[in-house]
Amino acid sequence: MFRRLLLFFVVLPVVIINGATETYIRFDLIRDQHSYASHPVQLARNDVIRQAVISRRLSRIRTPMNSSFDMLINSGAFSGTGQYFALVQVGTPARPFVLVIDTGSDLTWIKCKNTTSPETEPVGHRFDARKSRTFRPITCSSPLCKMDLPFSLTECTEPTNPCLYDYVYADGSKALGHFATEGMTINLSTGKRAKLRGIKIGCTSVSAGTAFAKADGVLGLGYSKTSFAASATHLFGGKFSYCLVDHLSPRTETNYLVFGNRSSEDTTALTYVDLSMEPPLAPFYSIQVQGISVGEVLLDIKEKTWKPRSGGGVIVDSGTSLTVLTRYAYKAVTKAYDDVLVNVEKVEVEPFEFCYNWTTPPAVVIPPFSIHFAGVGGVGTVKFTPPEKSYIISVADGVKCLGFMETPWPASSTIGNIMQQNHLWEFDVANRKLGFKPSPCSKK
Ligand SMILES: *[C@@H]1O[C@H](CO)[C@@H](O)[C@H](O)[C@H]1NC(C)=O
Ligand SMILES: *[C@@H]1O[C@H](CO)[C@@H](O)[C@H](O)[C@H]1NC(C)=O
Ligand SMILES: *[C@@H]1O[C@H](CO)[C@@H](O)[C@H](O)[C@H]1NC(C)=O
Ligand SMILES: *[C@@H]1O[C@H](CO)[C@@H](O)[C@H](O)[C@H]1NC(C)=O
Repeated sequence: MFRRLLLFFVVLPVVIINGATETYIRFDLIRDQHSYASHPVQLARNDVIRQAVISRRLSRIRTPMNSSFDMLINSGAFSGTGQYFALVQVGTPARPFVLVIDTGSDLTWIKCKNTTSPETEPVGHRFDARKSRTFRPITCSSPLCKMDLPFSLTECTEPTNPCLYDYVYADGSKALGHFATEGMTINLSTGKRAKLRGIKIGCTSVSAGTAFAKADGVLGLGYSKTSFAASATHLFGGKFSYCLVDHLSPRTETNYLVFGNRSSEDTTALTYVDLSMEPPLAPFYSIQVQGISVGEVLLDIKEKTWKPRSGGGVIVDSGTSLTVLTRYAYKAVTKAYDDVLVNVEKVEVEPFEFCYNWTTPPAVVIPPFSIHFAGVGGVGTVKFTPPEKSYIISVADGVKCLGFMETPWPASSTIGNIMQQNHLWEFDVANRKLGFKPSPCSKK
């Protein structure tokens, strides 16, 4: 993993726009000549050079591509999961797949049919690599497999064997398969359709986990050399954004995951903080937290909780439902609310520690929860104050729980997707800024 984090260069995919007259605009595949440098000083130097090179490439590409593309997203609550889903078109001819949007991983994969077994048994909605003209397996002997692709296995008995991965998610879900490059069809903001080529995608033969019962795979929005987010943002405005509807919304309530600029009314008055995709927390998106307040009280939480280099730090993860706090922060936050709710009848609901009988809403004032972020450039403080339903969450009729999970120290804390709901989040990776603002996330 360490190696992968250091060797962080972006290979841009080729884009072909299908115009009305079938004319194609084609961008060259750009490779980084320094991809295999390994001395840390050289890497740091390359990093600086890379920034300059990327800005030049971006401006070159932005002119013809000053547009964005979007994918419909909705809450997966209808399927009993705490995930958000995006609709993605994969392969040639393109087929629709529903993928979990996950800023907490850089592996994109879809469930694949077993191409070595005869097409007999019903396998549900699976991608058939044999039926796509653009599917190209990646071999285990390729540098891509050995150096860049996340979670690739070293096992390689024949050089032409596929590049395998075996990934276990934090909740125990897993995906096992092989890597390929493939095309995705996207809807540009101009109304045209385009094909993103050369996307590194996993073809999963075996998966397990509740999140994947109703989804066809994962759209890994984490940021690393070969990730979908890196490829798509480098072609489209250097940023992506999503507005998460209330996590209990029906599946018909949709919004968008947008790569590039959203419409201007969407992005007015965003509040920005610094965004980092650097080690030790890469390929995650981390932000600098200064503290947490409940009501007017800034809680007494050890400062190292928020410091990545002291074993802590905070990431923003669309693929984790509840907000995860390390011991000190978890104890302080849950105590602050439990003190307020001390006279409310407790209810046992796994896996929560603090649940209450809310049949009759308690006659107490719930103090607001705020996360204090460091402002851009470390100057000042920016407060994020989510609605009450994002931290005192409805888990059943008449039952509410404190929507936090505890994780043992040392670990990073995670701002989960329920905490992010009813907000627009803009991951401006080119400028290393995270923007947010409250929003009903209703489609115009
Ligand atoms: C690119 O898009 C931005 C935002 O939509 C707009 O302000 C700008 O004028 C566009 N530039 C070109 C060259 O079309
Ligand atoms: C693109 O738009 C078409 C027509 O509105 C729609 O059917 C399709 O699902 C969209 N594709 C994606 C990837 O959102
Ligand atoms: C695919 O099918 C073949 C033949 O039925 C079987 O031997 C193999 O184990 C299957 N592979 C997976 C990953 O299930
Ligand atoms: C909550 O309290 C009400 C009565 O006040 C009771 O009827 C209900 O069963 C309780 N709910 C739970 C989950 O204990």
